[in-house]
Amino acid sequence: MGKTPDKELQIVPLTEMPDNSSFCCKSAELNDFLKNDALKDQEYMVSRTYLCCWNKDIVGYLALVADTLEVEAIDEYDKIAGYLYHRYPAVKIARLAVHKDYERRGIGKFMLLTTIGKAIAISKEIGCRYITVDSKPESVGFYEKHGFRIVEKYRHSDTPKMYLNMYPILKRV
Ligand SMILES: CC(C)(COP(=O)(O)OP(=O)(O)OC[C@H]1O[C@@H](n2cnc3c(N)ncnc32)[C@H](O)[C@@H]1OP(=O)(O)O)[C@@H](O)C(=O)NCCC(=O)NCCS
Repeated sequence: MGKTPDKELQIVPLTEMPDNSSFCCKSAELNDFLKNDALKDQEYMVSRTYLCCWNKDIVGYLALVADTLEVEAIDEYDKIAGYLYHRYPAVKIARLAVHKDYERRGIGKFMLLTTIGKAIAISKEIGCRYITVDSKPESVGFYEKHGFRIVEKYRHSDTPKMYLNMYPILKRV
């Protein structure tokens, strides 16, 4: 199957319990989060979940939380010279999943671009320089392809920590 045209994809904030039968990705944990925890976490102001819909089907979702990234985790050229604090502000992709029948059709990329757009909007209200994610090992290539760097000390962990510096992106737009 070919790419799903971006203009046919819709990002919709989660407002009610999604239809349990309608979303299934390869990760049981990610399915379970959407089914059981996303709405509750949102009500408790812990995360915000967005559904990616195509033709009324849920083809993906992402959940975002506030985060910080330790200065030592960042490659030298991504840092601010003379930065005084131990941590940089960030938006974290807490969950990102694509329906198993819709993988490799551009939906993950669309949700990443949506996340960058949201993070840039947030950075105009409160300081926010990075996007972080604790990736699944098999998804590291997906994030690297979109400019994320791996934090070396977590490279061999079960969920390698990765980050994207939004400063050069913002300077380009
Ligand atoms: C990883 C995942 C989010 C990718 O989403 P997707 O919609 O299949 O990916 P896309 O079609 O948007 O791919 C965009 C680009 O990344 C590449 N890509 C996708 N998955 C990749 C992977 N696992 N490794 C390397 N590259 C990958 C694609 O080839 C494509 O490249 P192109 O632009 O040159 O054609 C999706 O496969 C998924 O949900 N997997 C299961 C859950 C998971 O691992 N989530 C991430 C947890 S942090």
